[in-house]
Amino acid sequence: MTQTLLVNKSDFADVALVSTDEAPLADGFIRVSVGPWALTSNNITYMAVGEQIGYWKFFEPKAYGINMDGFGRMPVWGYAEVTESNCEGVSVGTMIYGFLPITQSFDMKPVKLTPLGFQDGNDHRTALHPVYNGYTFIENDPSFAAHRDLQPVLRPLFTTSFLIDDLLADESFFGAEQVLLLSASSKTAMGTAYCLKQRGNIKVAGLTSEGNKAFTQDTGFYDDVYTYDTITDMNPDVKTVVVDMAGNGKVMATVYEHFEENILYNCMVGKSHWDGAPPRTPKLGAPPVMFFAPDRVKIRMKKWGGEGFAKNLAALWLPFCETAKDWLSLEESHEVTDLLKTYKDFLDGNASPAKGYLFKI
Ligand SMILES: NC(=O)c1ccc[n+]([C@@H]2O[C@H](COP(=O)([O-])OP(=O)(O)OC[C@H]3O[C@@H](n4cnc5c(N)ncnc54)[C@H](OP(=O)(O)O)[C@@H]3O)[C@@H](O)[C@H]2O)c1
Repeated sequence: MTQTLLVNKSDFADVALVSTDEAPLADGFIRVSVGPWALTSNNITYMAVGEQIGYWKFFEPKAYGINMDGFGRMPVWGYAEVTESNCEGVSVGTMIYGFLPITQSFDMKPVKLTPLGFQDGNDHRTALHPVYNGYTFIENDPSFAAHRDLQPVLRPLFTTSFLIDDLLADESFFGAEQVLLLSASSKTAMGTAYCLKQRGNIKVAGLTSEGNKAFTQDTGFYDDVYTYDTITDMNPDVKTVVVDMAGNGKVMATVYEHFEENILYNCMVGKSHWDGAPPRTPKLGAPPVMFFAPDRVKIRMKKWGGEGFAKNLAALWLPFCETAKDWLSLEESHEVTDLLKTYKDFLDGNASPAKGYLFKI
């Protein structure tokens, strides 16, 4: 038997833990034991945009023999260990990293095998984005040598941070004097602020909630930190690029009303305020442009090549991980009750930005 967590796609607070029998492993497949993996707001956003971008399709319960209409599986990033193998070239005991369902174990069909990893060629996944279908053999990839515990929490987010910083610098900050990050306490925002700060040629401001202000300030990644109810304290004459991790229509409307045409670019990255109304097209100021990390990866891979990309990313990733000991404490639990409580905290906006939550059920 294996346990898996299902979420009602039209009411994320409604979850079900179901147990299913494990069928004999098919030819060409591997079975993996899942975890530890990380939970952050990014995973809630995968569900919030699940229909639009297709995140529900990766681990669609029906494709794994689980029938519960209206329910889906929230994807997470983390590690898994191969426990059974009917696939030549992948042996039992191998540790992998990639996109996972919240479950105890599941089966994958490795294709396009290289010494560094494989793609899951399971039928229902072949039409989905390859970035999310790729799995890394962590012992063979030098980028997993350090900070192994931190990687599930920060790796998928920091890659996005690095790419946003790269885009803004590549465009000479669209002529702006400052970058203003919304949901400044989020890990994706902090990674972006960290990268921007290293450049030293642009002011970095953050917008966050009152309860997360002190934490955000204490990281030292921002020149200034404001709260959602002090937006009008900012100087409206400063030419500004917005990086929006919050996706909160009300907050964004106030930001536009305040800066008007001085918003020169709005990089729409996330929706950590997942249940708020989405931002509307502004009367004045540059309209939002959606940022999808895999698209930017493609552009940079073409220009830098795989090795160049890895080298440029590592130059910022490793020192960023070093900073984490000052602002992030990791907690790992194998208890379903802890998982359900933390999941609810993320839904309600009560999870601590100072914690990295790891699970294995
Ligand atoms: N487009 C892409 O390719 C891409 C890639 C990576 C991440 N992202 C997005 O970036 C966003 C941040 O993700 P993350 O994993 O870095 O977040 P995180 O570290 O888990 O962020 C936590 C912060 O988000 C805010 N928050 C979380 N849940 C909330 C709720 N229910 N109500 C109100 N505020 C809430 C709070 O920040 P404040 O108090 O500061 O608002 C909280 O401190 C997500 O929407 C994610 O999907 C997008």
